[in-house]
Amino acid sequence: MNDYRSVRVAVLGAGTVGSQVAAVLLERREELARRIGADIELVGVAVRRLDAPRDRELPRELLTTDAESLVLRADIVIELMGGIEPAKSLIERAIDGGADVVTGNKALIAAHGTELFERAERVGAAVYYEAAVAAAIPIIRPLRESLAGDNVTRILAIVNGSTNFILDRMHRFGDSAEAAQATALELGYLEADPTLDVEGYDAAQKAAILASLAFHTEIPADAVYREGITSVTADQVESARQAGYVIKLLAIVEKAVDADGAAGVSVRVYPALLNADHPLASVHGGNNAVFVEAEMAGPLMFYGAGAGGQETASAVLGDTVSAARRHVAGGPGIASSTHAELPVLPIGLVRTRYYITLTVTDRPGVLADVAGVFSRGGVSVQTVRQDVAEGDTAGTATLVIGTHAAGEAALRETVAALADNASVVGVESVLRVEGAE
Ligand code: HSE
Repeated sequence: MNDYRSVRVAVLGAGTVGSQVAAVLLERREELARRIGADIELVGVAVRRLDAPRDRELPRELLTTDAESLVLRADIVIELMGGIEPAKSLIERAIDGGADVVTGNKALIAAHGTELFERAERVGAAVYYEAAVAAAIPIIRPLRESLAGDNVTRILAIVNGSTNFILDRMHRFGDSAEAAQATALELGYLEADPTLDVEGYDAAQKAAILASLAFHTEIPADAVYREGITSVTADQVESARQAGYVIKLLAIVEKAVDADGAAGVSVRVYPALLNADHPLASVHGGNNAVFVEAEMAGPLMFYGAGAGGQETASAVLGDTVSAARRHVAGGPGIASSTHAELPVLPIGLVRTRYYITLTVTDRPGVLADVAGVFSRGGVSVQTVRQDVAEGDTAGTATLVIGTHAAGEAALRETVAALADNASVVGVESVLRVEGAE
């Protein structure tokens, strides 16, 4: 190693990803040195408990509980603790000491990314976070660099593997929502607090990160409109399947205009219908995919594992090699720009197509009655399907109505009017249709 300069690296956190990253840094030290042009020395791994069991065994002498001192001994600090504190303070300390930072912490980047990037820029350091969205899938660097000269117009993404697993089980194997969630839990797909997954918080954080990069605008996670998958039923999934759709929890970020035609950004996460032939419809199991549409590049699809120790470690190590090369060769870090400062538009301004399932009384004039509600609401009907259950004795029928693109606000008023209409026994579900031109 003496021919090379040395880059000192510290890892904060030795959980599934942290222990994997530290182990690979030790095992592949020589190969990484050849790739970087400098020796990469792991100077320490900060842990909460020295004797905790770990996925990968690490030399005891590298472990320390003193993260504060460790970050000052490194040129690159790899933060894999998760959560806001103490991760944020340690990263700030690392940056102030001139270190580059690699992190997989989506919650931290979504909440404080811009602040940390600016802090780093002031001292000539850089923050890398490829692992924060969709683990192994390269998507941060493509948005930050490869597409930096193009204009992204829309991103549709499956960025939460556990909810994709649940919806996929329901769609392909006919599982109930409860059974699918129990399997996801059993396989360890869900976060320790499953609400983060099933209520869409995890996907909203990732959507905020993608939107900020795509639209050069600071977008906090709490500005993302969010609905989870807890209201999706096996009946809805089956009805969608019969109509040629798949229900996916989508993160959607797109350019939009407000009522006065001024440019803005819409960032939202909800379960939506996708045409079965859309590329995202074939993303099965716990996989993730990000479908990017850009003015010049056209549609691009990034697909792969969105979680897992090894997979996430791959993204972390890629960032570490980049940071180490920069450390050796000098030059600016990868900059993020937030110059555009576009407003995030409220959900009421979003225009999309809807798919509404109603239970109605089965008697003459009902269809006209229901059509009248849509017409008065200014929502144009595109398709109507009526099913009467075999042996139905209640005198009811199911109406499935597809609309042309309509504003969310108009749709909500129409749904409220439907619920009040004498011909309508119940509004069973309202789902948005995404992915069309
Ligand atoms: N809970 C996340 C998921 C893990 O299900 O995708 C990766 O962030």
